[in-house]
This record gives sequence, structure tokens and C-alpha cells, in this order.
Amino acid sequence: MNIVTLVGSLRKESLNMQLFKTMEERYQGKLNLTLADIASLPFFDQDEENIPPQVVKEFKEAISKADGVMIITPEYNWSVPGVLKNALDWASRVDKVFVGKPVMALGATPGMLGTVRAQMHLREILSSPGIQAKILPPGGNEVLVGMATQKFDQQSGRLIDEGTLSFLDSKVEAFVDFIKKEN
Ligand SMILES: Cc1cc2nc3c(=O)[nH]c(=O)nc-3n(C[C@H](O)[C@H](O)[C@H](O)COP(=O)(O)O)c2cc1C
Repeated sequence: MNIVTLVGSLRKESLNMQLFKTMEERYQGKLNLTLADIASLPFFDQDEENIPPQVVKEFKEAISKADGVMIITPEYNWSVPGVLKNALDWASRVDKVFVGKPVMALGATPGMLGTVRAQMHLREILSSPGIQAKILPPGGNEVLVGMATQKFDQQSGRLIDEGTLSFLDSKVEAFVDFIKKEN
């Protein structure tokens, strides 16, 4: 199964990128997780939406071909980071590549609330007319990694908290089932 992943942080030591790396390794053989380079996308410009730059075309094509999309994002000021919103804005125009696409949201933060506000906001964005993604339903499926600095190994930069890892396993399984059902 091909899953394109959007990570909402550009920081070198990003916890959310570490979560992506953990998942990429852990679910190898089951899922082919590829990272979309959202940092290379220019700021969205409506004047360019019909003939977008090559990087935008490639980004949209990757989403279009994927069986599903994972969005792993920090919370910035109770919402999603601008770099992620920018990518979603490109994807929402002309050929609307997210329409009907299965999406799973995940997030990590040193804070207590595990990016819950960002994820609620993200769900609204993903439901907008230009996006209309099929989001893994919330009841118990939110992956909210709070107090994350304590859950990652400083040396390897991998998630090592056993409780979180087994929860993640079950939610990834739920997403795989969801994709099979929806595609
Ligand atoms: C501009 C900015 C706004 C932030 N706002 C929030 C917030 O609303 N909620 C939260 O839990 N953490 C917030 N944080 C802290 C981030 O969760 C923390 O920096 C986290 O490590 C960022 O994710 P990353 O490690 O993947 O880069 C904010 C950080 C920045 C830089």
C-alpha cells in the first residue's frame, strides 16, 4: 500500500519527523511510506494554480496516485503550521487531488494535549469543498502523542514508548482497513 506522508515541521530535530521515521521503519513491508517534500513548494498563488510550478505538479501527482495520505503535524498556535496549510491549499485547487482520498492524522508535541486543537482544525480543513478527504473517523482513532519529548529516544530519534507504539500499531491497522473499505 502506497502512503504519501506530509510532515508539518521543517525542524531538523522534529518530533513529528521522528514519528514519521519510526513508522517508516516499523511498518516496512506492510506500508510503503513516502515523504512529500512540502518545504519545496512555493507559497500558493492563485494566479499560478492552472499552470503550477513543476514541484507542485509532482506533489499533486503523488497524492493523486497514493492509496492514502498520512499527515503528521505539530500544533502551532492551536492550528496547523503554515507550511502544511500551504501544501493543502495547492492540493485543493483545479484537479482536487484529495477528494475521496483516505487520510489519517497524527501529531506529537511536548505539551499535554497532544496536538488535539491542531487536529480538530485539520479535520475542518480536510472537509472543505476543495479537499473533501475521507478522514479516518475520530472515535478513538486520533493519534495524539503528548509529552512527546519523554517518548522518543534522544540518541536514535525514534519513538520508544511501548504504550504509544502498540496504540499506533492498532491505529495503523484501522487505517489499512479503512483504505481497503474506501478505495
Ligand atoms: C510557532 C509555534 C507555535 C506553537 N504552538 C503550540 C501549540 O499551540 N500547541 C502545542 O502543543 N505546542 C505548540 N508549540 C510547541 C511545539 O509543539 C513544539 O515546538 C514541537 O516540538 C514542534 O514540533 P516538531 O518537534 O515536530 O518540530 C509551538 C511551537 C511553535 C514554534
